[in-house]
Amino acid sequence: MREGSKFVRETLAVLTENAVDYKIPELTGERVTPHSHLFDLSHMTVSAKAPIVIVGAGYVGLVTGVGFARAREVRLVDRNARLIEDLDAGRMPISEPELEERFNDNRDRLSFFTDLESALADQRPQLVFIAVGTPKRAAGGRRQEGEGDAANLSAVHSVVDELLLHDGVAVVMKSTVPPGTGRAILERAEARGRDLPYLSCPEFLQEGAAFATFDSPDRIVVGHSGHSWASDALRELHADVHPWLQGEHSDERYMEMELIEAECVKHTSNLALAIRITLANEIGNFCEESAADATQVMKGVGADRRIGPSFLKPGVGFGGSCFDKDIRAVRAVARADAGLDLSLVDTVISTNEGQVERVVEKLERRLGALEGTNIAILGLAFKPKTDDLRGGPAFTLATRLRRRGANLRAWDPEPGARERAARNHREGAEPETMSTAELARSALEAVAEADAVVLATEWEQFGEIDWCEAAQAMRGTLVIDGRNHLDPEAVRAAGLEYEGTGRESRGLLRPLPEGATES
Ligand code: UGA
Repeated sequence: MREGSKFVRETLAVLTENAVDYKIPELTGERVTPHSHLFDLSHMTVSAKAPIVIVGAGYVGLVTGVGFARAREVRLVDRNARLIEDLDAGRMPISEPELEERFNDNRDRLSFFTDLESALADQRPQLVFIAVGTPKRAAGGRRQEGEGDAANLSAVHSVVDELLLHDGVAVVMKSTVPPGTGRAILERAEARGRDLPYLSCPEFLQEGAAFATFDSPDRIVVGHSGHSWASDALRELHADVHPWLQGEHSDERYMEMELIEAECVKHTSNLALAIRITLANEIGNFCEESAADATQVMKGVGADRRIGPSFLKPGVGFGGSCFDKDIRAVRAVARADAGLDLSLVDTVISTNEGQVERVVEKLERRLGALEGTNIAILGLAFKPKTDDLRGGPAFTLATRLRRRGANLRAWDPEPGARERAARNHREGAEPETMSTAELARSALEAVAEADAVVLATEWEQFGEIDWCEAAQAMRGTLVIDGRNHLDPEAVRAAGLEYEGTGRESRGLLRPLPEGATES
């Protein structure tokens, strides 16, 4: 953003304060246009607009808030007092490229609250984003099959209920909610005599590249409830950070549609991505059995422009807090509301779970019973460049190996990931935990005395491991590359056995020829 002179900024700030009282349209939340009768303020977006409130300062809320703070005053609300205290003191609760830098750059436009009431106190905010968690419903009680997969919307509902006590605010739903939620919320509001302006604006941020995806979204999808002032305010907010929205053809990327359609876009997008990974994994498994290289196969497949190359990498399975949760939620809603069976989802889930099982089988094929073996796990985060452990395949693997009596040593180059794993262990927060004894202090320490090494996250740093040094430290020789990230030649040159995923496999799972015995 280009900054105006200090004088203009200060004058504008004073005018803005007064603009609400004097009802100067250009300064009360409307875009400040070049034909302003005061100055040419076309580049002055900050302070002239209504603040926005974001409820939920977790991953999505924080990144979204910091992203919009480039152009607006942003008030972040979270009932987690420790989180708010940390943010207020400039301590980042998550590791994400650019986060701290952009937080500091926009610090004067960010404020933090533990209650919504205070954030709304001066009545100026128009748009209130909801970015609270929508976890899977806790299991237990008498439930029908799959019902536990439905999203738990209690946090969403309690924020909406609080907002219903306020006039002049529009809800912008950022939390991932199942199709039909918006409609249900509107009915809930109506039952209380309120005509609630409500927008669905699903997020498509990718962890580890969240600001890149925030700055250059492939599309922005907005589902609306027919309150045009709210839709306009949201479009204007986006236009402040995405100059392309003022150009021609912007409707191709800024898509307005019905509420339920926007909700479906979010779930279908995640399902489509998960299906692509599933395809890569299933074909990868076939390639392993056939001594083919799935990365070559997928290169050929992805070169078809109708298909494209992304999300076709076979591996130890997708993790994260979204894919598994979201596709289960849409399956549950389809079953409950429409009596439909989204059987695709069943395949995606079982194939994904099977990917970790294949690693366990490979270990057992090579090492025999795993009781008492030492297994090193490289990578804890569910993907590189984040300290997010949720749904990480490393932990699914760890749980299965512990059950078989293996001793684990794990390492992740991101200190936040290691701290989180240890904290989860202390707090008994299953399943993403590692005890202090299981956490190594370096990659080399993790592989020391290991019978086998499994790479679960494709951190760049793992490409720099000195495999000769590692081979000397290890007790065994097997290296399973769950992300096809290592150089097989470098591993083999060190006298180790390399086993890739869908490529460079030594056929560990291939049925043995009749009469042959395992080595
Ligand atoms: C995913 C979507 O990509 C985002 O668009 C969406 O906004 C987000 O979920 C969400 O719903 O909040 P994210 O979970 O951050 O984003 O991570 P991805 O980059 O999609 O990766 C998910 C998992 O798939 C990772 O474990 C990754 O290693 C795995 N993956 C990805 C593969 O196994 N193969 C691939 O080819 C690509």
